[in-house]
Amino acid sequence: MSGAEFDRYAAGYDGGLDDPIKRMLGSSADQFIAVKARWLLRQEKALRDGGLQVLDYGCGAGDLMRVLAGLGACASFAGSDVSTGMLLEAARRWPGELGPPPPLEPQDGALTPFGDGAFDVVTISAVLHHVPVAERPAVYAELGRVLKPGGRLYVFEHNPRNPLVRHVIARTPIDADAILLDAREVQDGLLGTGRYELETDYLMFMPPGLPWLGFVDRMLTWLPLGAQYAVAARKSA
Ligand SMILES: C[S@@+](CC[C@H](N)C(=O)[O-])C[C@H]1O[C@@H](n2cnc3c(N)ncnc32)[C@H](O)[C@@H]1O
Repeated sequence: MSGAEFDRYAAGYDGGLDDPIKRMLGSSADQFIAVKARWLLRQEKALRDGGLQVLDYGCGAGDLMRVLAGLGACASFAGSDVSTGMLLEAARRWPGELGPPPPLEPQDGALTPFGDGAFDVVTISAVLHHVPVAERPAVYAELGRVLKPGGRLYVFEHNPRNPLVRHVIARTPIDADAILLDAREVQDGLLGTGRYELETDYLMFMPPGLPWLGFVDRMLTWLPLGAQYAVAARKSA
């Protein structure tokens, strides 16, 4: 889908909660995002200290940045997306008590307007499955370009090995164009465009609506069956 097509989903974007199975597992999109945000805060303790420059590439309605900030992250956030409608929605959703919304920049395809090595941390969540396979190398290259040497990149994706994920994606309108990818494809894609140390965790074994079961998720990060995975990539210094 093009940026303009994503614009149509922007106003009511709820992370695919139109699916009844997904609704049984959590009652709000924020509960799903919070699983990733809590994992990220465990990986990047400095996010709570301030001072980090963080880009959320393909930020959509800005939910990951907003939930991270709500959980105590105080980084300098920026977001980018191919959909200007999504960026407007991100600005609209940003809570006033967190101050002005972060800079939200439209992308020209894979390209962002940010300088080389501008960010300590880059996140990309639930985006790559929307990017046509032939265009993914350009996205990996851009993620690496804007990351500082020694910076950390976090790729969150739906895990195609989880049957429930495949069931939900097949019934979610915004995912009509989805081509799911596994963690190995992300790792190979990143290594095709740069030098990284890589690790993968699997997330979301337990329903996000039951956060007190998060300890089970934390014990199972090695098992490649969680609904989501996170590839952590440290760029060579
Ligand atoms: C499912 S939404 C995820 C939004 C957000 N990252 C999140 O986790 O809530 C997918 C987003 O990817 C964006 N997108 C699609 N293709 C893209 C591309 N080539 N580059 C950047 N963003 C893209 C869409 O505009 C949309 O905002």
